Amino acid sequence: MNQTLKQNSENPTLTGTAAWRCPSNIALVKYWGKKGRQIPANPSISFTLQDAHTDMHLAWKAKNTPGIDLEFTFEGQLNYKFQEKIAKFLESIMLEMPFLEQYSLNIASRNSFPHSTGIASSASSMSALAMCLCTMEAAIEGLPQDEAFYQRASHFARLASGSACRSVYGGLVAWGKTEALEGSNNEYGVALTEAQIHPTFRKYKDAVLIVSRTEKEVSSRAGHALMDGHPYAEARYADAEVNLAALLQAIGNGDVTNFIRLVEHEALSLHALMMVSNPSVVLFKPNTWEIINRLRTFRQETGYNICFTLDAGPNVHVLYPEAESGIVERFIREELVVYCEGNYWIADRVGSGPLKLEHEEG
Ligand code: PMV
Repeated sequence: MNQTLKQNSENPTLTGTAAWRCPSNIALVKYWGKKGRQIPANPSISFTLQDAHTDMHLAWKAKNTPGIDLEFTFEGQLNYKFQEKIAKFLESIMLEMPFLEQYSLNIASRNSFPHSTGIASSASSMSALAMCLCTMEAAIEGLPQDEAFYQRASHFARLASGSACRSVYGGLVAWGKTEALEGSNNEYGVALTEAQIHPTFRKYKDAVLIVSRTEKEVSSRAGHALMDGHPYAEARYADAEVNLAALLQAIGNGDVTNFIRLVEHEALSLHALMMVSNPSVVLFKPNTWEIINRLRTFRQETGYNICFTLDAGPNVHVLYPEAESGIVERFIREELVVYCEGNYWIADRVGSGPLKLEHEEG
């Protein structure tokens, strides 16, 4: 990191730093299709993860030249590709954050999980970026870190990468306007309250089974665009709305049977939609099916509450209540890891949300 930017000052209008650890999330009802300025075509809801996170450090120093001035390092290395993407994003929000042009920015980012593993690094990194930018804004303008701060951070995270707006809170987070949830809206994520979550769903686990580590075959942008003119688009958006309402009920009542039915239906809907899109996209691999079949057989034979969800890729997120961890994780190790590339899987759980980092990166 540029040493001159590291020196902190008493005066945040001249120099300063902000640092956040932000988690990824896994959607239970999927956001797939968008309109306008990152407005979701349907509401979605996700579990925030705990161990899969991005640590981001932002340093700023006043300058007198016009335009965005950014240096970006990823995992300790200068990364021009990410730098360019982020600089472009910063330019796109200059009307709302005009102060950005008045500072040289230095950002260092690091993920706790490896690349291309079915964990959404855009959700953790873009929420971390938004939290850092809002912390900078709050420092410069003397604003508190209150609820409005989080809503604003979620709004900017959404503009950077839709699903990232759900990563600024822990637990279960919904995004997108729906009658089924008071306060829900298209601009930022809303965390469910403790009263809205049955204890069973407060301590859920997510084991990510890595079927393939090849790079994403379809970018997010291209993926969402597949829904434009899709023959099932309207039916899908209506179905997501119904699924979200039903899932909220299941989560509130501790109804694991309906939770499983809805979560698997959502995962398969996402892939079914892709398969019949124009162009057709098939992201499943044979081992994705093997895992799903084995998991369903295990559930049928044992009655354990294990289910799966999928992102836009071949890797499988296996979800189960913490109370069933012992037996389920043994099943994963003994029967499912053979379908994983290099026998690789990642154990994660529902997490508590972003953490402000107080130390400086070395
Ligand atoms: O946030 P994006 O643009 O990367 O889209 C995320 C899409 C899914 O991961 C497939 C679903 C979701 O709601 O997270």
